[in-house]
Amino acid sequence: MEETLKFPQECGITKTLELEGYTITFRAFEHLSYCETPLDPIQTLNVYVPEAYYHNEAIGSYTADTAPVFLPNTVGGYMPGPADEPGIDSHTGRLNSLFCALEHGYVAVSGGVRGRTSGTVAKEFFEGSKEGSLGEATGRKVGRAPALIVDYKAIIRYLRHNEDRIPGDMNRIITNGTSAGGALSALAGATGNSADYEPYLKAIGAAEERDDIFAASCYCPIHNLENADAAYEWMFYGLNDYHRTKHQRTENGIIRVPDEGMMSEEQIALSKPLKELFPAYVNSLGLTDEEGNALTLDETGEGSFKEYVKHFVIASADKELTTKDSETNRSFVMTRGSEIDAQDYLVKQNGHVVDLNWDSYVHKITRMKAAPAFDRVDLKSPENEEFGDEQVDGRHFSSFSMEHNTAPGAEMANEAMIRRMNPTRYIGNADTAPHWRIRHGAFDRDTAIAIPVILATLLRNHGFDVDFALPWGLPHSGDYDLEELFAWIDGLCAG
Ligand code: DHB
Repeated sequence: MEETLKFPQECGITKTLELEGYTITFRAFEHLSYCETPLDPIQTLNVYVPEAYYHNEAIGSYTADTAPVFLPNTVGGYMPGPADEPGIDSHTGRLNSLFCALEHGYVAVSGGVRGRTSGTVAKEFFEGSKEGSLGEATGRKVGRAPALIVDYKAIIRYLRHNEDRIPGDMNRIITNGTSAGGALSALAGATGNSADYEPYLKAIGAAEERDDIFAASCYCPIHNLENADAAYEWMFYGLNDYHRTKHQRTENGIIRVPDEGMMSEEQIALSKPLKELFPAYVNSLGLTDEEGNALTLDETGEGSFKEYVKHFVIASADKELTTKDSETNRSFVMTRGSEIDAQDYLVKQNGHVVDLNWDSYVHKITRMKAAPAFDRVDLKSPENEEFGDEQVDGRHFSSFSMEHNTAPGAEMANEAMIRRMNPTRYIGNADTAPHWRIRHGAFDRDTAIAIPVILATLLRNHGFDVDFALPWGLPHSGDYDLEELFAWIDGLCAG
């Protein structure tokens, strides 16, 4: 076997961390190479194993043979996501998921994956990203599509390659990520063993192993990019003011930069034709609800699919009204003004939310992005850059924006690359993970709520196990309910 891909099981360093009243002791294996011919310094791997598993001890019902392998990524904004270590997330101030996973008895693995700004030092910051790492100016922009999923797969293959050397059950690998990192987790979940990534895996010298996984946990996945612009206008058409906060890395940490305004005449003019593209897309999917009823939209954008999307928001509001779960347990992340008792567009009966005024709800959460939200006609979005490569800085990925392009010399990404980046297109067409947990805050406007609903519904319609919810009041964020995430994993793995 190739030496570089052999896990150095004798080289672990035993560490103890005491944080926030929790103490964990684990063996750390850091800065490993997970592929033979890396293209960027970020392509390293950290593996953390609860020390107990080296002493024949169990944690809960887990042992060295049965512990699930938790594999979160630190990708945000399609930026590079470096390998992380257990500790406090300096952006949120909370224990990170690696720490919590070890404390819970999982084997925790964090690998660095390339992103759209690889090769440069970048100042942008997104939810789910790791604070403090700006990247290395190698000059080689080797992180554009499909690099992030290629690296994640190479990490999964490395773990399989070393299953006799690393404690944990490599048939219980669970990915986790937020936003673009949620999309990455969804890609890992959807595309198991697909031949479409093979040449890229060969190019970095990934182990020749399976890369399907057991479960994918996805927080607000920013995915299905070529349909997300139409979905966004289906939801936000008629709202011409946008409200967002950008984040920038500075020497003094991450600062918030408000970006608010009115859409230009040109942007407003794009909203309606984009909205009008959405029904045909939804109808092409052949989605059904739990009873087998067709989920469709008429040409005005009304219909059973819209009612279905609404019912998830109503269920979320009803849960909050009856449990105050977000207000009690997640107030640290809730959107200001989202308290359930302050929402006058909800229709309540006998202590339950039974309906809502959709337009007022959309008005309340506000539009975040001008049209088109993802494939910008000036090629200036993160997603345009994601579809660039070493030669071309950004590309379009929808024919609509290509037709309305304003950037000189613009190109369209090729269809195979657009497909490689869209998990929904692989569901049932690859070794898709059997188990999924998808969360998208009911106040998250980074993408339209229809987008995670489509992901969850496609998965369910293909027979996969999906735990899907839109937690009340939550904005674009993740890892806010790790106890529930772990309870879900334990329900699948423990005992
Ligand atoms: C992220 C957020 C976005 O709004 C987007 O378009 C892409 C990525 C993120 O937070 O990762």
